Amino acid sequence: MKPVLALTKGRVEKQFIQFLQERDFDVAPLLDKGRKLQVETDQFFAFFAKGIDVATYVEHGIADLGIVGEDILMEIQPDVFDLLPLPFGKCRFAVAGEPHSNKAFGKQKIATKYPNITTNYFRKQGKSVDIVKLEGSVELAPLLGLADDIVDLVETGNTLKENGLVVKEEMFSITARCIANRNSLKLKKAMLYPLIDSFKIEEVVR
Ligand code: PRP
Repeated sequence: MKPVLALTKGRVEKQFIQFLQERDFDVAPLLDKGRKLQVETDQFFAFFAKGIDVATYVEHGIADLGIVGEDILMEIQPDVFDLLPLPFGKCRFAVAGEPHSNKAFGKQKIATKYPNITTNYFRKQGKSVDIVKLEGSVELAPLLGLADDIVDLVETGNTLKENGLVVKEEMFSITARCIANRNSLKLKKAMLYPLIDSFKIEEVVR
């Protein structure tokens, strides 16, 4: 028996593979997977999904562990065990928009992939905003007049810059996280803990 890991596709996936490489894991099957969605390494079975689905697979016990952005955990609050932060997937939430746009009257309209995070953030400031939920390329919304501003993740800042937008308010920082299915953690302790321990940041001494 090997642990089953749900991995977030895309940027987090690349950074996770590099993280494993630094810990001398066998990453060849992950690197050579082509379009395959499931692979087996010496240490675990892995499958690749969108972040939001990683949380769902872990919640339902299909995967024992998941590697997912903290943004997903904050937005959908899945019923999983949030085990530990990982030293990658570092980015920040920000309110961004066109440089000189300032809404003088009426409610601010915010486009975002994260309606819950956005609502909570503004609620804590005592502000009520209108939210337009988008699935991606959120930067388009202020440019095309769909919203006044956006709430989104900023990593390098390139997407904002190349689209003429600026950060108006820094919100908070996040990282990737290792999550676990609640039952797996109880029932498969002996199998999961060595792997979880090897993900702990302090483990690497160089
Ligand atoms: C994310 C985020 C920004 C961009 C920020 O989108 O929503 O658009 O990355 O990264 P940067 O600061 O390094 O430019 P993603 O690439 O996941 O695509 P999406 O817009 O389709 O969600």
